[in-house]
Amino acid sequence: MKESANPTPSKIPVAILGATGAVGQRFVALLADHPWFEVARLFASERSAGKTYSEAVSWVLDSPIPPALENHLLESLDLGALDGIELVFSALGSEVAGPIETSLADAGLLVFSNASSHRMAKDVPLVIPEVNPDHLALASCQPRRSGGAIITNPNCSTIGLVLSLAPLHNAFGIRRVSLVTNQALSGAGLADGALLKLHDNVIPFIRGEEEKLAQETNKLLGELLLESAEDGTLDFQIEHATFPVSATCIRVPVSDGHLLSVSVELDEPATHAEVTAAWREFRGLPQDRQLPTAPLNPLHVLEEEDAPQPAKHRDLEGGMAASVGRLRPDDFYGEHGDRRRGWKFVTLSHNTVRGAAGGSILNAELWLEMADEALE
Ligand SMILES: NC(=O)c1ccc[n+]([C@@H]2O[C@H](COP(=O)([O-])OP(=O)(O)OC[C@H]3O[C@@H](n4cnc5c(N)ncnc54)[C@H](OP(=O)(O)O)[C@@H]3O)[C@@H](O)[C@H]2O)c1
Repeated sequence: MKESANPTPSKIPVAILGATGAVGQRFVALLADHPWFEVARLFASERSAGKTYSEAVSWVLDSPIPPALENHLLESLDLGALDGIELVFSALGSEVAGPIETSLADAGLLVFSNASSHRMAKDVPLVIPEVNPDHLALASCQPRRSGGAIITNPNCSTIGLVLSLAPLHNAFGIRRVSLVTNQALSGAGLADGALLKLHDNVIPFIRGEEEKLAQETNKLLGELLLESAEDGTLDFQIEHATFPVSATCIRVPVSDGHLLSVSVELDEPATHAEVTAAWREFRGLPQDRQLPTAPLNPLHVLEEEDAPQPAKHRDLEGGMAASVGRLRPDDFYGEHGDRRRGWKFVTLSHNTVRGAAGGSILNAELWLEMADEALE
């Protein structure tokens, strides 16, 4: 029998766009028992519309499809059909997300997006809640109907990189970064067929990814400024960080978890113990406010000589914690002694949880927390 989910009145009814994809499935799983949100509507392409969720989806997660959504009908996007929904999680591919997300936000909906379409727009917050929660203020510059806004989370590799860089940027400053990614199959989405190309192989090219890593890192670690416009109104904008980020992105035959090998030159020299302490002490607003999806520690420092590894460490704190390890001096930057500017390390994060659906849900929790605070 086909049926629709019936949200509990005390929870906020939400819609998932792109619910059948790699990221959409994570949204479905992570929102199944969420204390604030209840999935009320599921959307996918015309190909899936009219089918039940379990008929249409090629479910790839280890946990089963949440029973309440198995028989939920998938819809195709008709903007008039979102009555009763105020908050939308978008896992649409960037090739279709742009105009759809704009129309929904214009119509007064809050859109939390994983797509790259709007991330670099001047008035769109690109947020990692532990790193730059203040950037949410940018949304007030979006010219939309009351209540409507687009809020984005970064690319799935950028998130792990920036969680590891933010504590170093805050404590010592950053001059330049160079990195090589090892990106999991699920990062390519379900339609890409990456699995077929990766038997006995790695692919040393991911379209657009290296540019995103550089641009998004500098926006995320930029500073929120309040400026007065010519007409006397006040406007927020981001002064982007300016350090170079040189990335090489590689697809590898791993199911989930992006592992990055990073080399960083700091502004102020630091010892091994100081770098490690900056990572260990790193906490943010989600931890202070105990937001439902927040990990206790956003960054785990692993001591084993061969850690982190995707198969062992991607699921730390339900996949919401990133990990770092293998911290060692980088002589490439030509300085020696205890305090030095050049350090290299490895960092890992779960690309469809922390790097996508979980990151987006944490953004929505942060938004509601800040909105509540503003009302108090
Ligand atoms: N995968 C990751 O690790 C990751 C991480 C961060 C961000 N992202 C971003 O998140 C988004 C989703 O990625 P993904 O990997 O989940 O992609 P995916 O597996 O290819 O899923 C795409 C989803 O969009 C739906 N769709 C496709 N064309 C549509 C249309 N014209 N109208 C409405 N729905 C349509 C598909 O529905 P059907 O099943 O009906 O075709 C499917 O549900 C992308 O923007 C991606 O860049 C992905």
